[in-house]
Amino acid sequence: MCADKSSGKNGDKNKTGKPGKMGKSEQMDTGLSADVRARFAGDLGGVLDDAYSLMVHTHVYHWNVRGRLFEPLHKLLQEHYEALFEAVDEIAERVRQLGHQVPAGDVKFPSGLNIPVPMPGEETMVADLLNRHEAVVRKLRPLSADADEERDFVTQDLVNKLLAFHEKAAWMLRSIINRANERG
Ligand SMILES: [Fe+2]
Repeated sequence: MCADKSSGKNGDKNKTGKPGKMGKSEQMDTGLSADVRARFAGDLGGVLDDAYSLMVHTHVYHWNVRGRLFEPLHKLLQEHYEALFEAVDEIAERVRQLGHQVPAGDVKFPSGLNIPVPMPGEETMVADLLNRHEAVVRKLRPLSADADEERDFVTQDLVNKLLAFHEKAAWMLRSIINRANERG
């Protein structure tokens, strides 16, 4: 098997700001350096953490939503947690394709899980999910540009697909809140 011969220009740390957290990568010869693969695995690991937590919140809110928005929210949140389940699987498998474990190290996973007790009202649920979708979008956008620059087109394709999903989900949730506010 060929060892990695090249090195990435920014390869000593990933954009999560935690250098070395990903550990040693598996050896492969795909034209992406070990350093670049470690960086993107770390970045995708951060996205996975957020998306997994968002998926669990979405599922729990799907069960517990009450009130005048029950029917549309119950249905919409089912669509979202099902899409998120597929998304986190694809993110995790891309990390493995880049030669790293999922999740890496002795990290708490998912770290952002914080199910409120008692359950909030429906509009607070929607606002929480909206904030979480937007946070994932903010994390994905620079990663797409970075993956393009490093010619990791598979990671970029995945990231762009995720961007489209999260932005659409955010739009739907935002519109529900806006409509609810208009009704007063
Ligand atoms: Fe259900």
